[in-house]
Amino acid sequence: MAKRDIQGRIDKLRDEIRLHDRKYYVEARPEISDQQYDALLSELKQLEQQHPELVTPDSPTQRVGGQPLEGFTTVTHALRMLSIDNTYNREDLEAWHQRIVKSLGEENGDGLEFVAEPKIDGVAVSLRYEDGHLVLGATRGDGRRGDDITQNVRTIRAIPLRLRGAGLPAVLEVRGEIFMPSAEFQRINNLRREQGAEAFANPRNATAGTLKQLDSRNVAERRLEFIAHGRGELSDEPFASHQEFLRRIEDWGLPTNPLTRLCASIDEVWEMIEQFESRRGELPYGVDGMVVKVNRYEQQELLGYTSRFPRWCIAYKYAAEQGITKLLKVDWQVGKTGKLTPRATMEPVFLAGTTVQHATLHNLGEIRRKDVRLGDTVVIEKAGEIIPQVIRAITEQRGKDAREIEPPTKCPECGGDVEAEQDDTGKETARYCINPECPAQLRERLIHFAGRDQMDIDGLGEKVIIQLTEAGLVSSFGDIFSLHNKPEDVLALERMGKKKAENLFAAVEAVKDRGLGRVLAGLGVHHVGSTASRIISEHYGSIDKLLQASQDDIESFEVDGKKSGIGPEIAKSLYTFLHSDAGRHVIDELREAGVSLEVSQESATGSAGAELAGKTFVVTGTLPQFSRDEIQALIARHGGKATSSVSKKTDFLIAGESAGSKLEKANALGVKVLSEEEFLKMVE
Ligand code: IVH
Repeated sequence: MAKRDIQGRIDKLRDEIRLHDRKYYVEARPEISDQQYDALLSELKQLEQQHPELVTPDSPTQRVGGQPLEGFTTVTHALRMLSIDNTYNREDLEAWHQRIVKSLGEENGDGLEFVAEPKIDGVAVSLRYEDGHLVLGATRGDGRRGDDITQNVRTIRAIPLRLRGAGLPAVLEVRGEIFMPSAEFQRINNLRREQGAEAFANPRNATAGTLKQLDSRNVAERRLEFIAHGRGELSDEPFASHQEFLRRIEDWGLPTNPLTRLCASIDEVWEMIEQFESRRGELPYGVDGMVVKVNRYEQQELLGYTSRFPRWCIAYKYAAEQGITKLLKVDWQVGKTGKLTPRATMEPVFLAGTTVQHATLHNLGEIRRKDVRLGDTVVIEKAGEIIPQVIRAITEQRGKDAREIEPPTKCPECGGDVEAEQDDTGKETARYCINPECPAQLRERLIHFAGRDQMDIDGLGEKVIIQLTEAGLVSSFGDIFSLHNKPEDVLALERMGKKKAENLFAAVEAVKDRGLGRVLAGLGVHHVGSTASRIISEHYGSIDKLLQASQDDIESFEVDGKKSGIGPEIAKSLYTFLHSDAGRHVIDELREAGVSLEVSQESATGSAGAELAGKTFVVTGTLPQFSRDEIQALIARHGGKATSSVSKKTDFLIAGESAGSKLEKANALGVKVLSEEEFLKMVE
């Protein structure tokens, strides 16, 4: 072929591929099969390989991912990325409407229109197009500054690398949601379980985890999607309303949600919210609410913003989705402390984007309180997290053959003795397998030890742990660290290649200096979680000092002149364990394996800075951007301390939406109250 013809063919292929991307993602009307699409792409790839000088950055072949990055650079958003205020019921929605009507001076709201859009549970991004070319993809971060994730964003086929069409502004920033469809979420989690990695808790975590990858090739392997829902910086603004904006960006090639509706009144909005509720479970992605926006830009501008939210926008959040199914059987699973937890198997039911067959019943007390029986028709619910729960039995529909759920009298895994735990009234609340050598307990302890929030050992997930324990290669924490001495045995495991084994040995070696905090957390001592472990390790500095401490001392030491937050339950549990035979043995073994039992440097200085040193914070209410855990971690990273109750010693209260008694108390005591935004300014 002559060079000109090659260029012509390449152009044609690119146009065709872009057209089919558009048909698939923007119009949701694919015209060709996956195979046909792949054939076009592979022809283009081949031609580009033969003529590398003809490759352009916006060619559809350039979505495969580039060189891994060292880290993400921070970018400042041209316009802040705000969050949205939430409501949970009709009254609050009406109250919002009233406020708007009033502040716009509308008689009765006749001049108002709303756009209602599904609120997709994903990760917000800002995409910047200059002269139609995608030049930047950024996370929200703290709203002012986020991470540059352009490389990762480029791998998402729903995001056009280039926009085209009449009236395209020179600078166009679109905001939207990157999300993982439910089917892809299941595929990724199945894959992770097979590889022995921890499964993601929900599609949003999976999306966030994927976008954080420094190697964009990993992102290209997961099918993330994108839907646009708002604007950032624009060099000119040829639209008068949100609806118009959505229509225009769709013309230019950006996907918007086809379920979006224009509503002429708040009653219509409500109708839409109600109608949508029953349908949202059928969608191929998770939706947790409906976003309602004032349509006309002129009115949006008049309404303006609070320090945290636009006043012209509100999110109505649905209650967790429920489904109805039949309870078929209950298995009892053995936890790391020997506790037996009932797991229900039900007739499969489609709920919030996935097929559900199992749910937790928590414990025997719950089963009795809810009066759930085998054969019952039950209501199940998926809360924010992905593990479904049995909410209640529909007793009116109970058949004659329904039977009581009986707790096991022997451990279902080792056949060992079982002991009941009772509450103050003598009612049984839980059962435990008391065999110290129960293989299931060992397995669960090891899974916990290697888990993400503890030692975080790469490649040592549930599957591999099961293989290692069943082969008799690991029967204690210490054994993990001598695996490299038995390479042949490890290699003999199924699906364990040389590379995988070497990676595992290297990962194990690498965690030896994670430090005392993570080791303590990994031991899985009752009540002693990762926060307590970190505080304790930072206070004592080493296991030897901790071993010298009395129970009283652990319970009463202070940090910066204030109580540490370690209560008697934690202190007793930890002290008892450390001074038991089993505890001493574990510590000796880890020490011998060369695992550091001193506070890690990372934990001791801990921090991004020490701006908040000596300051005590309490957090209350729902914050716009951060969860409770996240903001507390942020406080700690900057050297401050988060406690749970307001007192004279509290320096600041960070208050979010629906802050109640703590806010009152802080005001009464004259404690300074901060919004999330004001707090962020302190640490910026
Ligand atoms: S508008 C200033 N529209 O929900 C308004 N957000 O809880 C900016 N979200 O940060 C957001 N679907 O990540 C808007 N149709 C939608 C949305 C949506 C999902 C996310 C978005 C936002 C978060 C707030």
